[in-house]
Amino acid sequence: MPPLQSPSPRVGEQRKTAQDRLIVALDFPTQKEALGLADHLHGSCKWFKVGLELYLASGNSILEELRKRGYSVFLDLKLHDIPNTVAAAVKTVSTMGASLLTLHAAGGPAMLTAAAEAAASVPGAPRLLAVTVLTSMDDGQLKSTGVSSSAPVQVLRLAQLARAAGISGLVCSAQEIRLLRGELGPEPVLVTPGIRPAGAAINDQKRIATPAVAIADGASMLVVGRPITQAPDPAAAANSILAEIESAS
Ligand code: C5P
Repeated sequence: MPPLQSPSPRVGEQRKTAQDRLIVALDFPTQKEALGLADHLHGSCKWFKVGLELYLASGNSILEELRKRGYSVFLDLKLHDIPNTVAAAVKTVSTMGASLLTLHAAGGPAMLTAAAEAAASVPGAPRLLAVTVLTSMDDGQLKSTGVSSSAPVQVLRLAQLARAAGISGLVCSAQEIRLLRGELGPEPVLVTPGIRPAGAAINDQKRIATPAVAIADGASMLVVGRPITQAPDPAAAANSILAEIESAS
C-alpha cells in the first residue's frame, strides 16, 4: 500500500497544540474581507481554509498573501473529475503553496489513485484529504442521490476506498469520527467540519458536534467557519474554541 499521508506536523510525532488543530474557513466573497479576518486572528490562528468562493474571486493571490503572513493554507477545492484531470490539477496545486487539498472520495478508486500518484510524483505537493459525505447531507439527501446506505455506512465505504488508493487523510463529520477511528485506527488524519460550539447557530449543517466532543472522539483537526467569521468578536470566538480544544485534548 502507498505511504499514508498526514499534514505537517505529523500526527503522533509531537503533541499538537490547539492552534495546530483549528482551521478557520475563510468563506468570504473577496480577498479584502478574507485577509481582514486573517489579520484580525493573527496570533490566535495558524491555519486558514480557502474554499471555492474565495478562490474563484481571488485566485492564487489569496494563497500568496496568506503564506506571506506565515499561515498554513488548506485549499478546499473538492476536486471530482476524470483521473487524468484530477492528477493534473494536483500537480498544478503543487506549485501554489497549499498544505492541504481536498478531493471527493466519490470520484472513485481510479481518480483517487491518480491523485495520490500525482502528489507523490512532484515536490511541494499538498497533502490530500478525501471528502467522504458532506456534512450538509443527511440520510434523506443521500437517498435522493441514489445512495441507499446510511451516512455512516457510506462514509466508511468512501474512507476505505480513499485509504486503499493511498490517501489516508479524510474529511468527515464529527458524528463519524468514532466509527472511522474504530475501523481505521489512529493513523488517518481526520479533518472535521460541521463544528458548532454549544448554543451557536447550526446554519445549513446537519451532522454537527461541539469542538470538545469532536476532539475527544478523535478528530485530528477541526474546520470552523461561521461560528468564528460571523461572530461579533471573531478573535474571542476563536480563542474560546481553542480553549475548548485544549481542554479536550
Ligand atoms: O461555516 P461552517 O463552519 O459551516 O463552515 C464549514 C466549512 O467546511 C465550509 O467552508 C464548508 O464548505 C466546509 N466543508 C463542510 N463539509 C464538508 C467539507 C467541507 O462543511 N464535508
